[in-house]
Amino acid sequence: FPCEVIRNFSIIAHIDHGKSTLADRLLEKMTGTITKGLKGSNPQFLDKLKVERERGITVKAQTASMIHNHDGVKYLLNLIDTPGHVDFSWEVSRSMAACQGALLLVDATQGVQAQSLSVYHSARERGLTIIPVLNKIDLPAAQPERIAAQIQATFGIDPGDVLPISAKTGKGVDAILRAIIERIPAPSGAPEDKLKAFLFDSSYDRYRGVISLVSVQDGILRKGDKIASYHTRKKYEVTDVGIMYPEEVSTAKLMAGQVGFIACNMKQSSEAHIGDTVHRVGETVEPMPGFQLAKAMVYAGIFPVDSNDFVKLEESIKRLTLTDRSVTVQRESSTALGQGCRLGFLGTLHMDVFRQRLEDEYDANIIITAPTVPYKVVYRDRTVLVSNPTEFPDVVDTSSRVKEVQEPTVKATIIVPEEYLGEMMDLCFSHRAEDVDHRYLDTSGATNSARAILTCTMPLSEVVTDFFDKLKSRSSGFASFDYEDAGYKKSNLAKVSSSPVVTHAMADKFRVKMVFLLNNKPVDALALIVHRSSEQQIGRAWVKKLHKVIPRQLFEVPIQAVIGKKVVARETLSANRADVTAGLYGGHVERKMKHLENQKEGKRRMKRIGSVDLPQEAFFDILSTK
Ligand code: GTP
Repeated sequence: FPCEVIRNFSIIAHIDHGKSTLADRLLEKMTGTITKGLKGSNPQFLDKLKVERERGITVKAQTASMIHNHDGVKYLLNLIDTPGHVDFSWEVSRSMAACQGALLLVDATQGVQAQSLSVYHSARERGLTIIPVLNKIDLPAAQPERIAAQIQATFGIDPGDVLPISAKTGKGVDAILRAIIERIPAPSGAPEDKLKAFLFDSSYDRYRGVISLVSVQDGILRKGDKIASYHTRKKYEVTDVGIMYPEEVSTAKLMAGQVGFIACNMKQSSEAHIGDTVHRVGETVEPMPGFQLAKAMVYAGIFPVDSNDFVKLEESIKRLTLTDRSVTVQRESSTALGQGCRLGFLGTLHMDVFRQRLEDEYDANIIITAPTVPYKVVYRDRTVLVSNPTEFPDVVDTSSRVKEVQEPTVKATIIVPEEYLGEMMDLCFSHRAEDVDHRYLDTSGATNSARAILTCTMPLSEVVTDFFDKLKSRSSGFASFDYEDAGYKKSNLAKVSSSPVVTHAMADKFRVKMVFLLNNKPVDALALIVHRSSEQQIGRAWVKKLHKVIPRQLFEVPIQAVIGKKVVARETLSANRADVTAGLYGGHVERKMKHLENQKEGKRRMKRIGSVDLPQEAFFDILSTK
């Protein structure tokens, strides 16, 4: 396939607007590989992972090629699938780098949503040709004219260019194929030039090691070639090369303009550097523009429920990170939970997905601590990135050494029908939003209300808690939300000095680490970094929760939430003097022994915090409920 007959494109859309369904429909039309019977109402082909099917979201980008006859000419169409959630916007942008065009899919019943905007802007920044598509026109609630007008108002796209389709019934899908061929430019590679390929995704195969997806910019990539990574300077031999059709099909070579997979003797996925440029050994090429590495934005500790399972857990985590390189791993040990790992994720959904995969695919029984964002603690002489609340400075030593604390912020975009605008603004303000602004995407009509778009900046820590749930419930599910990194900002924790509880300014400034004490001993795994305006509320909620799940002891146990030396909340667990052997009378020695034995067995799995015995499962209960 020479470049002229190749088209590289992706489908970009807000979550649930029908990307996977359309991808299926396109593949089905052209390859016949996926038989209709196999699918029906069933899992989309491109959504491979179990959690993706269960949650109906695309997590990992998948790529497939198809051959299509158009006016007697055979075209090679390469679909580069992109994941559909804000946590994965980094993957979306790297998938786009391998394309010349994108289908911008908008649900004709929902209209333009927050991620429609963000993916549109990423595509425009990369200079991609955009084909606007209105999906779900088969639904009675579809309002194609109105949404087309909204698309025009938002993106300046002529309604005449918008393709109305139903990915479900297949209506209008042929027009998409035509538009892909006629509107999207062919890749501009030169097969006679030196080899230059762009690595945009990788996966791990138990038998063959790392499989990378590449887009060949120039030259020809052949099986047996000796190649080198521009980034790591490491050398490899290509052992297999081919296209995704839609599974791997070896082709012996990939020409300029093509997208496909390569296997080489790469053993660790960390060697496959996303955004890397691959060239032939001994040749020099200009690398593709550098790529940002995925940044972990949410951290949490993962511990085995049974401490004896740590080795197994660590092994499972290692294996899983081979297929998801955006997760960072570090060992962590906790007096309360024993050995574990501190993992960094792109967002909370990413974290949930990883946790679910650990449980589903590796049968892991785990406790995951409350998520935290990475803070920058600026000391007089250095700056430390703190991603674990236990490492956050205490009040005691801060007043002299800590200059300030910086926290990651995001630029948030919310799209919502106008009647919810006030509610959404309140929500944002209560989550420490700044620079709140809004405008309208369209005007209201007889049967519909106008859509407003609200933008603001806010601390990421506010977003990773239950912000999304609140947003959905307070807008009756109508609001859509997206955010992008807005850099670190000095935490405005210090500014709340008008609050009556705050007295001595300097020391208070950094009082954001909340520790929980059981019988006056801190439980490290439960430490939190909180904003002072919510310290009472959070402290009380957690103390209540602890009170509920901690089994009663033989003595009274105070449960406290403290910040520095100040007790924010307290509950007292009353004593339980019951003796398990009471009531067993003489003669039943064996029974008595057995009881004691059982009790010992129970003890083995108990954690002793101070003098309080806590089953590890209690942590599971504490940390898994909101
Ligand atoms: P993510 O993978 O999570 O980004 O979602 P997606 O954009 O891939 O959406 P998906 O294809 O999973 O579709 C979301 C829902 O809309 C599914 O229940 C589909 O069956 C449904 N759907 C998709 N296209 C159409 C359509 O043309 N008509 C109707 N009626 N339903 C559709």
